[in-house]
Amino acid sequence: MQDSSPRALSSLAIWLNRRFGGLPPEQVQDLAACTWLFSAVLWSLVGMALGMIEAIKLIFPHLLGGVDVLSFGRLRPAHVNTIIFGWLTMGVTGAALYMIPRLAERRLYLGELAVLMGLLYNLIVGASIFLLMWGFTKGKEYEEWIIPLNIGVLFCINVVAVCLLLTLLKRQHEKLYVTVWYVILGFVGFDISYISGNFPTYYGAEDASINWFYAEAFVGLWLIGGGVGILYYVIPKYLNKKLFWHQLALWSFWLFAAFYVWTGGRRLVYAPVPELWPMLGILFTLGWALPVLAINITWFGTFWGRWHELLNSVPLRFAALAGISYFLSSYEVSVEAYEYFNANQQFSDFKIAHAHLSFAGFTTPAIVALIYFMLEKGLNRRLSPFLTSAHWWLFFIGLWMYVIPIQVAGFLEGQVWASHLPFAQSVLARSPYYWARTFSGYGLAGGQFLFAWNIIWALLQNPDSTRERALREAMLPEGTEAAAARGQVK
Ligand code: HEM
Repeated sequence: MQDSSPRALSSLAIWLNRRFGGLPPEQVQDLAACTWLFSAVLWSLVGMALGMIEAIKLIFPHLLGGVDVLSFGRLRPAHVNTIIFGWLTMGVTGAALYMIPRLAERRLYLGELAVLMGLLYNLIVGASIFLLMWGFTKGKEYEEWIIPLNIGVLFCINVVAVCLLLTLLKRQHEKLYVTVWYVILGFVGFDISYISGNFPTYYGAEDASINWFYAEAFVGLWLIGGGVGILYYVIPKYLNKKLFWHQLALWSFWLFAAFYVWTGGRRLVYAPVPELWPMLGILFTLGWALPVLAINITWFGTFWGRWHELLNSVPLRFAALAGISYFLSSYEVSVEAYEYFNANQQFSDFKIAHAHLSFAGFTTPAIVALIYFMLEKGLNRRLSPFLTSAHWWLFFIGLWMYVIPIQVAGFLEGQVWASHLPFAQSVLARSPYYWARTFSGYGLAGGQFLFAWNIIWALLQNPDSTRERALREAMLPEGTEAAAARGQVK
């Protein structure tokens, strides 16, 4: 392929490389992925700690006295935004920086710029936590960050998108592996949803319609689509096997892209908006079950005959857990789109459990599996078997200890509302389950702490060069990149 990058960008690359002390290009590329991925892990620890305080405050509301900065109303957006924009967004971006150059079989273009953007993005996330806690907010759900931060986010993400796009334009082979499609969709979806959700000002029902378009399109195309792309990379790579039914993966990609954008209307069933919008939302949510099934067939089809490897490989277990959670959370949404169920559950704790099943149960383990893969096979580091295994068990138990009780709590809450009983009764019905959530937080956050510790431990070890060679030889014959190179996958 022709080098289509403009001359000015090449000069910028040379200038930046000088500033970085002339690191070898492969190292700059890995540095970019590591900057985004390891910062993501740091923000996950902060975000989960905020979630823990929130969970405890839902049992002891008077904890921390009347300090405004630590009130539930400030902690909740701080937790949600740190997790969404710190952990998940940085994780998905870092994963793209790791995967795309390898799938394109080209060095990351302007990798130094991607490193700088990662550092700048960290400042934005750090500032956002202080600003939210001190009450600087747009006051709209999932759009709380103030406009200067929104501009910073768009700038950093789009500069990285340009680096990735230029890398893809110079790719070795014409055909694109399915992960690349999801990454492209993710970055396009990010811009469309983030700009429409954060910048224009609407009021009343119009505002609610745009807000839910933004929330579902952002979640679907960026956070969920990002996770799907990661699993399409990690599962065949870890199993050292060709993806099962690549053609089905490609068809389902187009259904995924077409359906997910329009699912937001289901959040407005019974709201004062034109009936067409919620109806479309319900229809697209039901139709979406099709690509989900196809995607799962391709993932678990790849696992077929190799299930025993789940016993030996913790990262592969994280990938499988992500696949199962994706299936469960997607079908849960399709059931929830049904009007009767929606009426009872839309505003209950059921949604909170669903959000954790999707992001803590799916995107989180997908990013975790990718980071383990990068450490083990990309950077040739040894992981601590004890820390890896302890991370898995704490995370696994913590996840289900959160999702199952809070789902039950939400169901009971909805039933109390439907029976027209006093609101206080719905609070009483839920309270035992809130204790379970608080304990689950020790598992989730504790597991993530061990993960961070394991990363530091692995980075302190010397890379194993013998192992590196053996791995490279073992990976190439059936790995997706080599397969793509031979035109076996598109
Ligand atoms: C990777 C891990 C996590 C992710 C991805 C995550 C994500 C989220 C999201 C998206 C929401 C907003 C839900 C909605 O508005 O529907 C939320 C709320 C919440 N999360 Fe987390 N969270 C994580 C970990 C935790 C942990 C460890 C705890 C501690 C037990 C926790 C406690 C809470 C609480 C208490 C809320 C507010 C619930 C409410 O408003 O009623 N989260 N989280």
